[in-house]
Amino acid sequence: MCGIVAYIGKREAYPVVIKGLRRLEYRGYDSAGVALLNGGKLNVYKKKGKVAELEDHVVGKDLHSVLAIGHTRWATHGEPCDRNAHPHLSGDGKLAMVHNGIIENYGQLKKELLSKGHQFSSDTDTEVLIHFIQEIKKSNQCSTEEALRIALKRVVGAYVILIVDEDNPDTLLAARKGSPLVIGVGKGEHFLASDASPIVEYTKEVVYVNDYEIAIVKADELILKNISNEIQTPYIQKLDVELAAIEKGGYDHFMLKEIFEQPQTIFDSLRGRLDAKAGKLTLGGLREHTDLLKEAKRIIIVACGTSWHAGLVAEYMIEELCRIPVEVEYASEFRYRNPVVGKGDVIIAVSQSGETADTLVAMESAKEKGAIILGVCNVVGSSIARLSHAGVYTHAGPEIGVASTKAFTAQLAVLALIGLKVAMEKGTITEQRFQHLLDELEDVSDKVAIALELNEQIKKIADKYKDARDFLYLGRGYNFPVALEGALKLKEISYIHAEGYPAAEMKHGPIALVDENLPVVFVATKDSYYEKIVSNIQEIKARKGMVIAITTEGDQVIPGMADDVIVVPEADELVAPIISVIPLQLLAYHIGVLKGLDVDKPRNLAKSVTVE
Ligand code: AGP
Ligand code: GLU
Repeated sequence: MCGIVAYIGKREAYPVVIKGLRRLEYRGYDSAGVALLNGGKLNVYKKKGKVAELEDHVVGKDLHSVLAIGHTRWATHGEPCDRNAHPHLSGDGKLAMVHNGIIENYGQLKKELLSKGHQFSSDTDTEVLIHFIQEIKKSNQCSTEEALRIALKRVVGAYVILIVDEDNPDTLLAARKGSPLVIGVGKGEHFLASDASPIVEYTKEVVYVNDYEIAIVKADELILKNISNEIQTPYIQKLDVELAAIEKGGYDHFMLKEIFEQPQTIFDSLRGRLDAKAGKLTLGGLREHTDLLKEAKRIIIVACGTSWHAGLVAEYMIEELCRIPVEVEYASEFRYRNPVVGKGDVIIAVSQSGETADTLVAMESAKEKGAIILGVCNVVGSSIARLSHAGVYTHAGPEIGVASTKAFTAQLAVLALIGLKVAMEKGTITEQRFQHLLDELEDVSDKVAIALELNEQIKKIADKYKDARDFLYLGRGYNFPVALEGALKLKEISYIHAEGYPAAEMKHGPIALVDENLPVVFVATKDSYYEKIVSNIQEIKARKGMVIAITTEGDQVIPGMADDVIVVPEADELVAPIISVIPLQLLAYHIGVLKGLDVDKPRNLAKSVTVE
């Protein structure tokens, strides 16, 4: 489910595709491969490990081709090894395929193919599919394109696939369902990829391929067809991503760059929407749906991971501001427990990538049942954005580090705007409080910039605690999801076991973990829970736990109790998570770096989880 890239045109295709695979490395993967076509003969090179290992492997080999497909694999069927890496070949060796996603009914298809004498050289579902296509081609005496169409009617699962055919050296075939595919349209050339990052340096004109569409791509022609063989008109859009946005720009890691971009990205997510001076808030994307939100019986937020944490903060905000019941669901659980959902419910799907399969599937099922779907997405034109009835983009720019940072704070900002907008329309907020929160949001970028000045201090704290085996993160109210997010960041980046809890819940179990070796991070900024959390800190200290406290300026109490204190600017509790998460992102980052880990591409993780 990680990355595909392809090129067809007049250039040497291999360098374009390798560079593209490097641009997609951030998505996380375990092996890489390419297929090239020279003089009507397929050359396939693939290797377990990094793209760099593939590059070493191909030294001295025939790399000449004006057409190439490339892949980074995140293994689902079969261990990561050279044999299972993509591209895979058909039985007659004439078709090469790369695939992201899962063919769920591959077992049945494989059985049928085995009975027809097919032999497989990998454990993947992908190889089964390319054999299946070739089998159809043979038995129906049809073209590869026709065989692909027939095959896809039988396939259950999610995929983006690319096929090169030795007998059709001027054509690339592509198809998608559930996994992203962007086609860059150049002059006499086309670029295909899982997202726009391998494409931006060549062209700004792109086509987002829809589910169940097949693309027949030649150097100077792009034909889109649906699964019933009807021609579709490609909708060419302009990319608004600059090359600089996908490069490190002097930072050691994308994660650090993205943490430091937050004053700007938060500002961007509010720009044109928030006008505190005029006391105004405009959300163009929701214009026609504010009434539906206002009248919603219930709001259900579906998301995964960090986006789910943003959803939890939104639950507190929206319930407080709008007096509408809000549930926050793990998208993966929501779909399969046959939830009670229907007309009158508004679903808000929160996602950085806009491609998370669990979230997409949850949205689809709620949509079928009559709920209204709103999307809060970062990636413009993504599947979640397109599946939503309406939505608000977070405008944080491309997030390359696998651990989400700037997308989270942008989600919080946008979700606060949604809550405020509905509260104002609904009359559940006083004018004063509305104005106060607009002012607070207006100031939040500057406060985040101040919190970022703590970087050097946090690096020292990271050094002190980097060898701990476990961490506990505690917070209450709006800061409880921040504690969860802090723990997730540490787990992802440093592989240290970390748990997040509501601070009061600690005494119901996790307190058994506390001893002099356990660092406990308290997110304890000044809010309505402050007195209570001070007692919780005391409970940890009484058991000799080490306390790292995130507090606000002017706090006289907590600094006297905690082992380490990180002081952030004060803000209204509704806005405070946008600021209090900053030191937690930095702490995770520095611990990861000090441990010598690959913080941008942590092991086993994928940036965009396009399988269920
Ligand atoms: C965040 O650091 C994660 N890597 C992960 O939990 C992520 O938030 C989750 O997979 C959801 O992704 P999305 O926002 O793109 O839908
Ligand atoms: N299911 C395929 C495999 O395991 C594709 C995985 C991917 O999306 O990279 O090889």
